[in-house]
Amino acid sequence: MYEGLWHGEAFSDFLRSYGIELPAEPKLPDGSTPMPTRPHRWRELRVRVGVGNGLGLVPTMLGSIMTRDFAAIHMIWGAVNELTTLTGYHALIRRCEHPVLHQLLRKVIQDERRHFAFYRAQAKARLQRSRTARRLVRWALSNLWTPVGAGVKSEQEVDALAIYLFGDGPQGREQIREIDRTISDLPGLGGMTIVEDYLDAALRRAAERPGWAGIAPLPRAASSNGHAPAPTHWAKAGARED
Ligand SMILES: [Fe+2]
Repeated sequence: MYEGLWHGEAFSDFLRSYGIELPAEPKLPDGSTPMPTRPHRWRELRVRVGVGNGLGLVPTMLGSIMTRDFAAIHMIWGAVNELTTLTGYHALIRRCEHPVLHQLLRKVIQDERRHFAFYRAQAKARLQRSRTARRLVRWALSNLWTPVGAGVKSEQEVDALAIYLFGDGPQGREQIREIDRTISDLPGLGGMTIVEDYLDAALRRAAERPGWAGIAPLPRAASSNGHAPAPTHWAKAGARED
């Protein structure tokens, strides 16, 4: 989490050099921005998602008391989030040609790989030793998992990000499948495709609701076959091919 704070600062710095600063940050007398820029970010986020500061920890604490296998859920969540994040950064490298952003992303990816390795090893050990953990984690991933950022960002914003990064064609699709393969290699999680399922659901929502996630509908003639209007080129290219 500590490194993640500085990742955020690095990305904010990058955006600031293009004049993008949301929300506007307080400045020091010399015009520079104090670091860290948002020291109370976690408290503010908790309040914003409606659990109140500190209160969001209660279910976690109760869960930990109820079953020691609960920690396996925490670890798998960490593993999926870290892997999704770093794969998203790889996808962003593929989708943009900015040499400085590439450099920044590659550095951040190195940190995220380390975070992922920790969570994966923890999750694997806990899944290996307990049948309850395997069942609990499988159930939780199937029923409760949402992509990292959901809750803080709206469903439409998460869909837009997922479609932009991974819905642009076979390469994005393959990156998503690689995440699912890595997760489903863990004990008890065979055959799970949670991330690809999310991408498909996002593409479906975009196809069903013209304008959703910033995707404009195609001209009328293109959708005269009785099906829902086709999404724009990049969403269409990302649709499942098999
Ligand atoms: Fe991380």
